[in-house]
Amino acid sequence: MQKIRAIIIREHGDPQAVAKLETINLPSPTVGEVRVRVKFAPINPADINVLEGKYPIRPELPGTPGVEGVGVVEECGADVNAFAPGDVVLLPHRFGTWREAGNAHASELVKIRPDVPLEQAAMLHINPATALVMLREFVTLQPGEWIVQNAANSAVGRCVIRLARHFGWRTVNVVRRPELVDELKAAGADAVLVEGEKLSAEIKSVTGGEPVRLALNAVGGDSATRIAGALVPGGTIATYGAMARQPLKIPNGQLIFQDIAWRGFWITRWYQRAGKSAAAELLGELASLAARGVIFTPVEAVYPLDQIAAALAHAQRPQRAGKILLLCSDS
Ligand SMILES: NC(=O)c1ccc[n+]([C@@H]2O[C@H](COP(=O)([O-])OP(=O)(O)OC[C@H]3O[C@@H](n4cnc5c(N)ncnc54)[C@H](OP(=O)(O)O)[C@@H]3O)[C@@H](O)[C@H]2O)c1
Repeated sequence: MQKIRAIIIREHGDPQAVAKLETINLPSPTVGEVRVRVKFAPINPADINVLEGKYPIRPELPGTPGVEGVGVVEECGADVNAFAPGDVVLLPHRFGTWREAGNAHASELVKIRPDVPLEQAAMLHINPATALVMLREFVTLQPGEWIVQNAANSAVGRCVIRLARHFGWRTVNVVRRPELVDELKAAGADAVLVEGEKLSAEIKSVTGGEPVRLALNAVGGDSATRIAGALVPGGTIATYGAMARQPLKIPNGQLIFQDIAWRGFWITRWYQRAGKSAAAELLGELASLAARGVIFTPVEAVYPLDQIAAALAHAQRPQRAGKILLLCSDS
């Protein structure tokens, strides 16, 4: 048994008010278990929704938030042969990563190559995975084909830009701030547009009328309607986020005359459906892409666990230049 520090929530509500650092007991790993010292874990929009009690899957109370993170194996229980102390591992989906250390069953851990920067490894499981799976799930994209997305400067959006460039697809990227245009073009965006009423026409103009069959929507409301309005008949818009917290508005004509497919995507459902082996394969591919610098998620700030309130306040600020990470343990 050892004492560790972890973020605990005992109720849902204002994130800064409900997330507290506590000291708890961590037993030794039992048969088949591995004790992992957690290094970094991000604060994603879904974590904020979990703290608020607005996310469909939440830890039981009292519980520890944190959907993803990276750690280093510290000790293996009996009958664990696939891991050794020092291995770098991704923690299981929805492990409750905002803690110094934890025990996980060996079958739930994914060992990754040690040449991925730990900060990047901590963020592979959700956003880069979402970007890569969505680019493959809905439409079989041909070389040079265009896709369109909003919230293009988000972590998912930046991965979409980099992956599309890597695999030979072209992106029209929609943001709500003009100052992001040059930065996203430098990261590989083919075109960057600012949200506005004429967006559908502007998208058709930058693609030169070439067909756009896939739109990725993380905003909702008018923004989703406008990017869907740039699709060819039979195209697909995949909604994976709702940052504007506004309902979708689907014009009748898009369904009746254009046959636009409005689909949803949730990486949690993909992990459940795909199973452990496909998940490990995806994460291995992402780790390789991160090690080569193909995907890279900017970080705006890193906070230790004892500054959780400041970290949560920062993560909820608009117009960030990157993710907020928790440094869960520096030993
Ligand atoms: N379905 C899934 O499986 C899945 C997986 C991963 C992520 N997501 C969702 O995808 C979205 C992006 O996540 P992330 O971690 O990539 O985000 P992030 O890096 O934290 O960035 C947030 C993005 O949202 C934009 N934004 C914030 N408030 C907005 C508003 N009111 N209207 C329009 N845009 C707004 C920000 O624009 P500014 O920079 O201009 O503020 C920024 O582009 C979130 O909704 C998240 O929950 C879903």
